[in-house]
Amino acid sequence: MRVTVLNGPNLNLLGTREPAIYGTTTLPEIEAMLRAEAARLGAIIRFVQSNHEGTLIDEIQALPGTADGLILNAAAYSHSSLAIRDALLAVQVPFVEVHLTDVATREEARRRLLFADLALEVITGKGPQGYLLGLAALSRHLGGR
Ligand code: DQA
Repeated sequence: MRVTVLNGPNLNLLGTREPAIYGTTTLPEIEAMLRAEAARLGAIIRFVQSNHEGTLIDEIQALPGTADGLILNAAAYSHSSLAIRDALLAVQVPFVEVHLTDVATREEARRRLLFADLALEVITGKGPQGYLLGLAALSRHLGGR
């Protein structure tokens, strides 16, 4: 199972960014947790963070043939990017949407999720654990392939 993990804007600042909201775990620490679990499952991980919408879209367009599934935390773009939605529709690669925080209980603007209806599962409010749950969901869906 080949899984791409895409992280959107400002997630590179995890650890120091609004720790009361996002906690103190850094993105490299999340990556390490995920890689350890992927090794256990025999999965191969590509882990990417970008602050740029176009780079995230390029990564999504590159998925067919290179990844079996996607874990996507598009951060603020989850609430605004029709272009990322279009890319997800174009490639039809199964994905799990992850948010560290419970976006439904935050500001109004964060309640609108533009790709959640396309996702296999949407995991919110579980912190870094959400990425592991996302990997487990993909593994179930893909049958360990
Ligand atoms: C986030 C939630 C988004 O609303 C926010 O813009 C982020 C992170 C989360 O993981 O909780 O940057 O996707």
